[in-house]
Amino acid sequence: MNRRLEERRAYHARYKQTVKTRGKPFFPYAMFHDTVMSLLVVCLIVALAVIWKYTANEGTGEHDSGWLGKLYDEKADPGTTNFVPRPDWYFYFLFYLLRIFKWPDSVILGTVGIPTVALLLLLALPFIDIGRERRPMRRPVAMTAAVLTIITMGVLTYKGATAKEPLAAENLVLVPKWAAKQGFAGNQTAVDGAKIFAQVGCMNCHTYLGAGTSNLGAPDLSKIGKTSNRGVAGFATYVSDPSKFGNNVMPQFKDLGADNLRKLGTFLQSSGTCSPKTDTCPAAGGQ
Ligand code: HEC
Repeated sequence: MNRRLEERRAYHARYKQTVKTRGKPFFPYAMFHDTVMSLLVVCLIVALAVIWKYTANEGTGEHDSGWLGKLYDEKADPGTTNFVPRPDWYFYFLFYLLRIFKWPDSVILGTVGIPTVALLLLLALPFIDIGRERRPMRRPVAMTAAVLTIITMGVLTYKGATAKEPLAAENLVLVPKWAAKQGFAGNQTAVDGAKIFAQVGCMNCHTYLGAGTSNLGAPDLSKIGKTSNRGVAGFATYVSDPSKFGNNVMPQFKDLGADNLRKLGTFLQSSGTCSPKTDTCPAAGGQ
């Protein structure tokens, strides 16, 4: 142990000597280089942004021209409820981690726990890995860890990139199956409600008969007419403004209009309360 320490001290002294004779100090040389390069890059980005903004023909109706491309396809609509958010590609691996860890049991582990442990490991690395060996073949543990990390992130990125979103069209084709299974096929109002349910983004949070994704603690709604039993009007009021019922996670759906809300309400009240065998539905018609 003592010899290793001495060896390391000697190595450090030699290193300092080399730096003195052949190296340049970090300050000001390296810092000056970095500053100049960073400044150039920032100036380039600003210049490109200015050129893009002022050469795009905004307001002339010719949105598709400009030296560096058009300004935007359509202006962003902050009120949209059926937009399915997706991260940029370099976050796909985190995005997929979120799908593996389900709300609410393990989501803290996935979003805070694992990244924190990884960060602490990185911080601790200089203190753990004090060997002087730098040849990759002589560092089996570090190499295995690095390769495994790269493979894991690659696989997660791929999975995230190809993960299917609960697309409205995909859910819409399920409506006849739901109607048959739940027994509301004879109730056109409920069927219409199911179609709205499949299309307006409810299934980004709620699951229904195994379809959709479970997010933010939203319950499965396959039997909600039985378990919650708010009635057609009750469900319509709830969906219109869930915050009135202490649900501040679910967005308001007032904009759907009273007619669509009544259809949704009929669909929800019919879920779990109809008899698939006889195709009868106590909530048929609705108020
Ligand atoms: C952003 C996520 C989200 C979206 C989108 C969403 N919900 Fe919810 N919803 C929730 C959450 C979370 C709860 C549970 C709230 C609670 O238990 O307090 C909930 C609860 C409900 C309930 C249960 C009410 C009860 O009686 O217990 C119904 C019904 C419901 N949502 C219907 C809908 C419908 C219909 C849509 C689409 C028009 C929709 N939700 C869209 C998150 C969402």
